Amino acid sequence: MKRRAFLRTGLTGAGVAGLAATPLAGATATRDLTRLFDPRRRDENGPVRLSSNENPLGIAPSAREAVLAGLDEANRYPGAIGRELRELLSERLGVGMDQLFFGSGSTEILRVSVAAWAAPGGRLIYAQPTFEDVPAYSQPFPYDHVTVPLTSDYQHDIDRMREEAKKSSAPSILYFCNPNNPTGTITSCDDIEAWIREESEQHLFLIDEAYFELADDPSYRDMIRWATEKPNVVVVRTFSKVYAMAGMRLGYGIAHPSTVQRFRPFTTQNQPNHLAGVAAVASMNDTEFFNNSVESNNEAKRIIKDALGQLDIEVLPSQTNFVMHRIKGELADYNERMFEAGFNVGRPFPPMTDWSRLSMGLPEDMARLAEVMMDFRKKDWI
Ligand SMILES: Cc1ncc(COP(=O)(O)O)c(C=O)c1O
Repeated sequence: MKRRAFLRTGLTGAGVAGLAATPLAGATATRDLTRLFDPRRRDENGPVRLSSNENPLGIAPSAREAVLAGLDEANRYPGAIGRELRELLSERLGVGMDQLFFGSGSTEILRVSVAAWAAPGGRLIYAQPTFEDVPAYSQPFPYDHVTVPLTSDYQHDIDRMREEAKKSSAPSILYFCNPNNPTGTITSCDDIEAWIREESEQHLFLIDEAYFELADDPSYRDMIRWATEKPNVVVVRTFSKVYAMAGMRLGYGIAHPSTVQRFRPFTTQNQPNHLAGVAAVASMNDTEFFNNSVESNNEAKRIIKDALGQLDIEVLPSQTNFVMHRIKGELADYNERMFEAGFNVGRPFPPMTDWSRLSMGLPEDMARLAEVMMDFRKKDWI
């Protein structure tokens, strides 16, 4: 069914209507999130994209203006905007300008790190499941891949990762995705730090903080301090998530100046591209957009977690812009039924194939999705 048709048809039923109305009414009472929704920003007839952890708000209005104005300079190499962004990040993060390097999305920072640290006999140690790009980008290099299942509470299993790291004397990479994609869960920062303190500097801690800005657990903190103190820690950040710039491709690494130098032959010069750079600077100065982005995401999560709670469906605690919840039956069937109902939901993440990763849309999208879930329950599909 086309999305518009689905919206028109709607789904009724007392429980369903109540569920959708309550959270939205609560949201609008405190803050009008619907004003953030511009229907021109997506194809009305297509399914709602809840599959790629994108930010549904669209880029900040200030970033849009900056990009349009920035076109006047698009014929020039982007040195000036690179310096401006570096200065801004350096000031906000409390790191030296020489500790920053840019990439076309944070995946480029991951790729550069993997390429620069490669050595014969080195290990690439990562959780299962976790973000797949690090193992994918390591393919041309002689890493021995070591996957370590998450613990029963969905943290990286640091004890086992440490045991695996001890087995190689060659430079290795310890990849931490914190919060983790696809589970949305966080790993104890105390435990990561304890390991960083003790580990030899030939092993690289590659710490992916793509969802840092969305995490609000009091025990969660960034690892930037270690990227300043130690040459074997790289912190990876992106403008794709809270700043809604996934299509503009801009990420950055934070590392010791010596590590930035060491990585230099692997990075692309003239980064960031001018338009991504002006959008990033404008976005970082747009506190209202940042707050809207966090609030919209929290509200969307609240709506869907309420629905999953009412349906007694297991859901993992999320510190990101997606939630992982249990499904019944085959994931492929579930995804197809969701698609028919007007929603694109996440791909398989082995070994968690009886779970679905659901990226947050607008709160109103999640209210409609909640109705669909209620309907699925009536059909015994969920
Ligand atoms: C953990 C993690 N790291 C990095 C990325 C890639 O982001 P970017 O768009 O900055 O390349 C993603 C994207 O979903 C992600 O989940």
